[in-house]
Amino acid sequence: VRRAPVALGAIVLACGLALTACGSDSSGDTPELKVEGAFIPEPASDDMAAGFFLVRNGGGADTLSSVSSDIAGQVTLHTTEDGVMKEQDSFAVPANGELDFERGANHLMFENLKRKPKEGEKVSLELHFTKSGPMKVEMPVKSPTYQPTAATKSSTQSSSTSDH
Ligand code: CU
Repeated sequence: VRRAPVALGAIVLACGLALTACGSDSSGDTPELKVEGAFIPEPASDDMAAGFFLVRNGGGADTLSSVSSDIAGQVTLHTTEDGVMKEQDSFAVPANGELDFERGANHLMFENLKRKPKEGEKVSLELHFTKSGPMKVEMPVKSPTYQPTAATKSSTQSSSTSDH
């Protein structure tokens, strides 16, 4: 009987955890997407620009199927493999994971630019996912050499003012 308070405490704690688990479970396989760190480096070219961002997913898997922007005739999805860009129809957003677009790797290509993005401006973008509804993202235009996480990504610093 002396131990009762301890046991009760344990039960209360377990309930709390169960409630938390239940809270996030109730959404089932629904993706919970958040876009972070979006930016466009000011492009060197008049008709092409690259864009980067991170999609965080706190729910079920989803797929990024297309992207559109009012400044570009077309926005395509690219990967980079061994320094060579490849167009990709879609990108998987893993369940409880992230999809990263960063320099030297995955990136958006804004093609047939209607106007050239200038540092300090914002460009609006709409991301289309298979399951989630479309997401509007405001991408700030940064300097051509801007690196969002220079501390953690040491590799691709020196390489050029290319659009990628
Ligand atoms: Cu590209």
